[in-house]
Amino acid sequence: MSSERGSEVEVAIRPFREADWPAVHRWFNNREAISSLMEVRPSFSEEDARGWTEAAAGAEGEDRKWAIEVAGRDEPVGFTALYGLFRQTAPELGALIGDHPGVRGVGREAERLTVAKAFEELGAHRVYGRIPAFNEAAKKAVLWQGWKHEGTMPEHIRRPDGTLIDCEIWGITAAGWRRRWAGEG
Ligand SMILES: CC(C)(COP(=O)(O)OP(=O)(O)OC[C@H]1O[C@@H](n2cnc3c(N)ncnc32)[C@H](O)[C@@H]1OP(=O)(O)O)[C@@H](O)C(=O)NCCC(=O)NCCS
Repeated sequence: MSSERGSEVEVAIRPFREADWPAVHRWFNNREAISSLMEVRPSFSEEDARGWTEAAAGAEGEDRKWAIEVAGRDEPVGFTALYGLFRQTAPELGALIGDHPGVRGVGREAERLTVAKAFEELGAHRVYGRIPAFNEAAKKAVLWQGWKHEGTMPEHIRRPDGTLIDCEIWGITAAGWRRRWAGEG
């Protein structure tokens, strides 16, 4: 174990299994958690959850998703994702903590493990994220990992009720990642 880890508890990411669908259903019906995502689905049924989980477990195409496990809990508490791998353009990181783990740092540590995979196993040259400007937790999580705020797209997000939200672009290059995490295992 290296010197700097993000969480007070042991956090791991693992591939999805089809049996994870009830947890997925719960996360996407956690209104508070999903309200800070880039896009909010109006509803997410059990059937949606089964389909989402089956696709995640299949791990085909350009996207990969991982379930976040926290020591002492039977079910995963959320997921991380990399969207648009293996292209000339960099993949985008996604994350959702759908069951509150009750301790600090689970999201940022799960994200760190995911971005490490992007650079070390999946050939990424850069990873980026679009973050609604009000989402302080998401911004702090990537700042801790060494990401930079690269710009802001004014009013990029329009919610169904017409609310307009600025969207920030955050990112990190492979070289930036090595600088931040040199010497960490
Ligand atoms: C964003 C998310 C993955 C971060 O994970 P988390 O486990 O909640 O956050 P962490 O405990 O790792 O904390 C990261 C930082 O955010 C801070 N933070 C956590 N919740 C916060 C909140 N509601 N408001 C402000 N800061 C918050 C923590 O104190 C910590 O800050 P520090 O670096 O100063 O110590 C998680 O909150 C989440 O899934 N949110 C809903 C979905 C989402 O917003 N996804 C990202 C879309 S762009």
